[in-house]
Amino acid sequence: METILLNNGVEMPSLGLGTYKIGRTDEEVYHAVRSALDIGYRHIDTATLYQNEHSVGKAIRDSGITRDELFVTTKLWGSDVLAHNVKGAFETSLRNLGFDYLDLYLVHWPVKGRLQEVWKELESLYYSEKARAIGLSNHLIHHMEEALQNATVAPVVNQVEQHPYLNQEELREYCEEEGVTVQSWSPLGSNKIPLLKEPVLAEIGSNYSKSPAQVVLRWHLDIGAVPLPKSSHPERQRENFEVFDFRLTAEEIGRIGALNRDHRTGMHPDNMEF
Ligand SMILES: NC(=O)c1ccc[n+]([C@@H]2O[C@H](COP(=O)([O-])OP(=O)(O)OC[C@H]3O[C@@H](n4cnc5c(N)ncnc54)[C@H](OP(=O)(O)O)[C@@H]3O)[C@@H](O)[C@H]2O)c1
Repeated sequence: METILLNNGVEMPSLGLGTYKIGRTDEEVYHAVRSALDIGYRHIDTATLYQNEHSVGKAIRDSGITRDELFVTTKLWGSDVLAHNVKGAFETSLRNLGFDYLDLYLVHWPVKGRLQEVWKELESLYYSEKARAIGLSNHLIHHMEEALQNATVAPVVNQVEQHPYLNQEELREYCEEEGVTVQSWSPLGSNKIPLLKEPVLAEIGSNYSKSPAQVVLRWHLDIGAVPLPKSSHPERQRENFEVFDFRLTAEEIGRIGALNRDHRTGMHPDNMEF
């Protein structure tokens, strides 16, 4: 598996397993995460919102894989920001996961009027060495500028909705200039848009004997982003993981990028309420 060196020197596997709605029950979550770990995933993305940290953590702990081989992210939900409970929420996540540190802790969505204050709280978690890295999610350029006005620690990532229908070129360029890695959520377009049916993906895939999903995931990797595909099914988890044995040409990257239509499947970050 390829890795990315974050701006604080921490290494992050360049593809992770998304876990939002990965199972309807604790058991299903547990088995889905165990199967991904068996396949070779070492980077797992969860969040307080997903209400699955307990099963995700148990699957990781039972896998027998040593903690330092794994990269685990969770996220701070806005209601904890509004309740002035950042540190408490972080400790609850650690306890749910059964870990004594996190690899990455993210501000899940910008909370209006609280951007700088929240980032300061994350900085103190980082300084306490209970989070190896801290970052942002769903922050537009103006949110990043506001949040980081008095920052002493730069975010390592900004995790945003990104796929060929929403290619985030401007935000990606800004993040690159600032040394911030972009992680792609809904990298396959989720189940809300028919992205994987685009003929160009099958056509490019036929050059490499790869599926449309594999072509899309390789596009993320080749533009320097870190995709977090979710699948509850071992065979699709394997398919999504088998993307490290080919590379797209510049022309193919351009053709996929041309599918952009600035189409969001999720909330616009300026409109999120808690
Ligand atoms: N930071 C944020 O605000 C935020 C927001 C949303 C999501 N996320 C993160 O990003 C992760 C991924 O996003 P997502 O779950 O919305 O969307 P996604 O990963 O783009 O797509 C998931 C959908 O695609 C299907 N799928 C997976 N692999 C496939 C394949 N090889 N071929 C065909 N279909 C495939 C899945 O079905 P099956 O499961 O049935 O295979 C599921 O319906 C989440 O799980 C979460 O960790 C973060």
